[in-house]
Parts: sequence; C-alpha cells; structure tokens
Amino acid sequence: MSANTLTITDNRTGKQYEVPIENDTIKAMDLRQIKTSDDDFGLMTYDPAFMNTASCKSRITFIDGDKGILEYRGYPIDQLAEKSTYLEVAYLLLHGELPEEAQLKEWTRNITYHTFINENIKTVMDGFHYNAHPMGMFEATLGALSTFYPDAKQIFDVECRRKQIYRLVAKVPTIAAFAYRHRIGMQYAYPDNDLGYEGNFLNMMFKTTELKYKPNPVLERALSVLFILHADHEQNCSTNAMRSIGSAQTDPFSSLAGAAAALYGPLHGGANEMVLRMLKEIGSKDKVPDYIKRVKAGEFRLMGFGHRVYKNYDPRARIIKQVADEVFEVTGKDPMLEIALELERIALEDEYFVKRRLYPNVDFYSGIIYQAMRFPVDMFPVLFAIPRTSGWLAQWVEMLEDPDQKIARPRQIYLGHKTRDYVPITGRKLPATASANA
Ligand code: ACO
Repeated sequence: MSANTLTITDNRTGKQYEVPIENDTIKAMDLRQIKTSDDDFGLMTYDPAFMNTASCKSRITFIDGDKGILEYRGYPIDQLAEKSTYLEVAYLLLHGELPEEAQLKEWTRNITYHTFINENIKTVMDGFHYNAHPMGMFEATLGALSTFYPDAKQIFDVECRRKQIYRLVAKVPTIAAFAYRHRIGMQYAYPDNDLGYEGNFLNMMFKTTELKYKPNPVLERALSVLFILHADHEQNCSTNAMRSIGSAQTDPFSSLAGAAAALYGPLHGGANEMVLRMLKEIGSKDKVPDYIKRVKAGEFRLMGFGHRVYKNYDPRARIIKQVADEVFEVTGKDPMLEIALELERIALEDEYFVKRRLYPNVDFYSGIIYQAMRFPVDMFPVLFAIPRTSGWLAQWVEMLEDPDQKIARPRQIYLGHKTRDYVPITGRKLPATASANA
C-alpha cells in the first residue's frame, strides 16, 4: 500500500476505501464512491464556512497563521513593505515575478494612461443621493463600468484581459475619490497623470483651489505601504466571491463589484471602520479596563482583534504600527492612538485573549492612520478595496487558467420536506411551528 493514501472504513457497510493524499489533502470527490447501496448518492463533506476545505490550488499568497507569516509570490510582506511600491507589488501579484526596470516603466505607463473615467460614469455617480455611502457608490459604479466595456466579456483573450486589468487597477482610485467628492458635495478632481499612483489618489481626494496639488511624500509613501499590506490575502471572503462569480465566466467589472460587496461587511473590510467607532465609544484611556471587562463578558467583540487564519500577531499589524509613527510625525498624534495602545497592552496580557490567541489584526491601526490622513471613516472599506483590486484580479486570472476549475457550485444537505402535493389556498392550515416569515 502506498504511504500517500488514506484508508477509510465505512462502519455502515464494513467496506474499506483507499483514497490518495496529495498536498496533504484528499479530494472531496473521492468520497463520492462511499455508498451504502447502488442508488445512494455517495458521501459528501459538510463545511459551511470553508473551515477546512481548499477551494483551489494557488501560487499567489502564502500565509502561515500560527507563525504570523505572509508572503506574496514567496516574498515576505515586511520586505515588500520596506522596499517596494504598491504598483510594483500589483505587478508581482498579477505576473508572478517582480518586474525588470523596463517592465515596471511599461506597467506604470499603462496604469497611468487608464486613470480617467468616461464622463457618463460621472453622470451615473451624480445620480446617487447626497449622503450615499462611498462603498455603495464604489460597488455600483464598478458594476456600471461593465456596460462601458463590453469587450471585457472576452475573458479568455489574454490581450483583452490585460487591458481590463489596466483599466481596473487604474480606475479604482478615481472611482473611490469621486465617490468621496460626491458625498461631500465637492466638484470632482480629475486625475493628474504627472503624479504617482498614490499621489494622484491624494490629489483626487483633497485638491481644492491650488493649481497643482503637491502630495506630502511621507503620506504618499504611507499610503503605498498600506496598499501593499492590503493587496492580497489568499482565499478570504471577498476573494472567494471574486473567484466564485468569475467562475460563471462573468466579466471582471461585475465580478469585482461582487468582491467589493463582500469586502463591505463588518467582519471583513468593514472592520477598520468599526475599530474607530469603538475607540470613539471608549472615549479615553482610563475607560479601557471597563470596556475589556464587557468584551470578556460577551457583550460585544473587540474590533480589530482576532483573525480566522492568524493565531499569532498579524504581520501586517506590526508594519502598520511603524507607518503610524511616521504619519503622526506629519499630521500630529491622533488621540485615538493612546486608547488603541492601551487596549492592545491590556488585551495582550489578558488570559481571555491569550487563551483564544486573539491578537491585533491589520485593521486595528489602519483606521487610525487613515483618520489622521483626513480620510473619513466611511471611506475605509473603499481604501481597502483599491489595493485589493490587484489581488482579486490576480486570483481571478489564476482561476480562469486553472484546468481544475469549473463553475462554483457547492452541494447542500437537504433537510426540508419530502415530496408533497400542492394544497389549494382554501385547504391550507399552517402547522403550529411554521413561521410566517419563513
Ligand atoms: N473579541 C472578543 N472575543 C473574540 C474576538 C474578538 N474580536 N474574536 C474572537 N473572539 C472569541 C470568540 O468569542 C470565541 O470565544 P469562545 O471560544 O469563548 O466562544 C473565540 O474567540 C473564537 O472566535 P471565532 O468567532 O470562532 O473565531 P473566527 O475565526 O470565526 O472569527 C473573526 C474571526 C471574524 C475575525 C473574529 O475574530 C472577529 O469577529 N473579530 C472582530 C472583527 C474584526 O476585527 N474583523 C477583521 C478581520 S481582518 C480582515 O478581514 C481584514
């Protein structure tokens, strides 16, 4: 018997099965042969939140949650954050290798060339209510973009696909900034293609009467680092949405709108917004112990703490803390920082958090930095979506090129009624347990 197999005994029938193990994984379809009779469907696995199910093979991002390791294409996140730029990292995620000088120049040129959006997209955005949440506008505008680029449906044409990637990476900051400007009732600031990716984004966000906006280089760099840290995170909720929608061969604009919708949730990209609201609610450093007590009593969760994968310090949180110091040198210290540091100090020593291996995640500090840079709280999920666009696209391309992938279609365990006959309305009587809202 080969060592790389698993022997399963079905105690219902006494039959034994041998299934191969590859990459420390068994194929769920190998269980289908395990049946009690010929007309039995066969054994399935039940894994509602994909807690122990690999949905794909990937070569993009590696995480070791126990050791606190995060790597893009094999490069440790701290090296990339220290030495690289967001556009270079986006290239790395999408192409698999760091670019040579000429490649980076060409990539940057192509992204810069596509920063403008069609004037009619502006009209679409004008239609939103004055107080529309920018993330809602961002998602909807991405979906609307698919109608402007019908060629994007040619997802197996490599050249055409590349063009959509340029368009998406280039246009997400423009859409994000326009959503913000609409929200505050200011005229849109057009892209300035003399500036870099991050500097131009700051220009579109904050330019007022000056003829030429000059981004602060420290803030530009901080934004680049934050973008690097958020660019990809393997099979998280929004990436899974991107792959799942994309598996129906949907165009990338529509798929990305769906991924952004997943990111909007408070348990995912909405968490940094929740952190800031939490810090405001706590109000001052001396109230932290009482707040922790209430978290431990199960009243609510400590936002920005804990992670499905990291059961150690999130390596991104460590880097972000350094960025915070540099940003505060420019902007002045945010009063929220003192509360955050105290929360972290107490939580890291507390038995409740230690036992559950709950550490600060990437969102714990990112919100405080964004706030110090004058980004309003409801822009936080949008700020996450801008860099995650390159990760979503890299994962989407990998999915399209993977011969193992088909349209995503999970199974279910059906526990509802057996077949029954239709009852005319006059003869219906709800059983006592049935809910009118079901
Ligand atoms: N505060 C207090 N207790 C917590 C927290 C928290 N933030 N997170 C988990 N726990 C506790 C749970 O109550 C549970 O305790 P129990 O065993 O006594 O019931 C235990 O830790 C395990 O929690 P799970 O919910 O099983 O952990 P899971 O891996 O499913 O959840 C999640 C991960 C959703 C991130 C969770 O830690 C959480 O809600 N954190 C706060 C929200 C947040 O910061 N999200 C951002 C994630 S990072 C990102 O998306 C970029």
